[in-house]
Amino acid sequence: MPKPKILISRRIPEEALARLKPHFQIEHYNKPTAIPRKLLLSRIKDKDGLLCILTEKVNEELLAAAPRLKAVATYSVGFDHVDVPACTRRGVIVTNTPGVLTETTADFAWTLLMAAARRVVEGDRFMRAGKYVGWDPMMMLGTDVHGKTLGIVGFGRIGQAVARRAQGFGMKVLYYDAQRIFPEVERQFGAAFRELGDLLRESDFVSLHCVLDQSTHHLIDERAFALMKRSAYLINAARGPIVDERALVKALKSGRIRGAGLDVYEAEPKMAAGLAKLPNVVLAPHLASASLETRLKMGLMAAQGLIDALIERKRPEHAVNPDVLEKAAA
Ligand code: DGY
Repeated sequence: MPKPKILISRRIPEEALARLKPHFQIEHYNKPTAIPRKLLLSRIKDKDGLLCILTEKVNEELLAAAPRLKAVATYSVGFDHVDVPACTRRGVIVTNTPGVLTETTADFAWTLLMAAARRVVEGDRFMRAGKYVGWDPMMMLGTDVHGKTLGIVGFGRIGQAVARRAQGFGMKVLYYDAQRIFPEVERQFGAAFRELGDLLRESDFVSLHCVLDQSTHHLIDERAFALMKRSAYLINAARGPIVDERALVKALKSGRIRGAGLDVYEAEPKMAAGLAKLPNVVLAPHLASASLETRLKMGLMAAQGLIDALIERKRPEHAVNPDVLEKAAA
């Protein structure tokens, strides 16, 4: 039996590639930039599996171009770039990489929060520009983090890991989620539920950790900024379109909020006009899961998804739409 054919749409760690090699005929777009859409659509034609990243839209167009496709493994926990119902309709199993990046992403949300509050990036630029002429009691004053109120929007795995870290800073933790968690879990995290409006009003730092879907698109818009404290900071290491980026630029420019830390952008990799000119925002290029250890684990998990689905023919542990297999078996 010939080996199944897969397409890997981006460079990935060697170990993950090595895991796939014995099982598949591999076509690898081994580049640091996105595969051109046209090329993706032509190369997917004869493939049984796709290992992709979050810049590739797996939609009706791609599925129509891939009549043999049976499995898509996305190298990410988020799968808002994948039309899962369309995949399910066509019998394509989708897998993602949950769990392994939770702590790393929570670390990074905190990195943004601390960097924004304590003006680390501005300070670094200042030093490199040779502007530091000696200690000054009034120079680059930031905002204390300890003892403040942290509002977490989206209290899944990552939101909870962010909350755990807040305990070490003696913070009051509030959370908002479409679903309220059990009181004993709230107690475990020292977190209290608030409706979104109340959370925005009360928090010194608002950190976003919800998924992107229709209900969270532009969840943080002009009206939301109007509810926040003028001294508040917004942290987004979730998905760009959760925030109306133009409204954010306005809020940062006008002093409606004090600062922000961003890892994701509404039209990634582009930024809203004016954002990059603002001194009170820390900007990162979607790095939250970018540690050597975690990116390797994500790669191995994505590889395993394809092996389970196409070689072992069993339900992958991290299938997003396991009902595909149940339907096939019925
Ligand atoms: C994800 O996995 O969804 C992140 O955005 C990239 O790690």
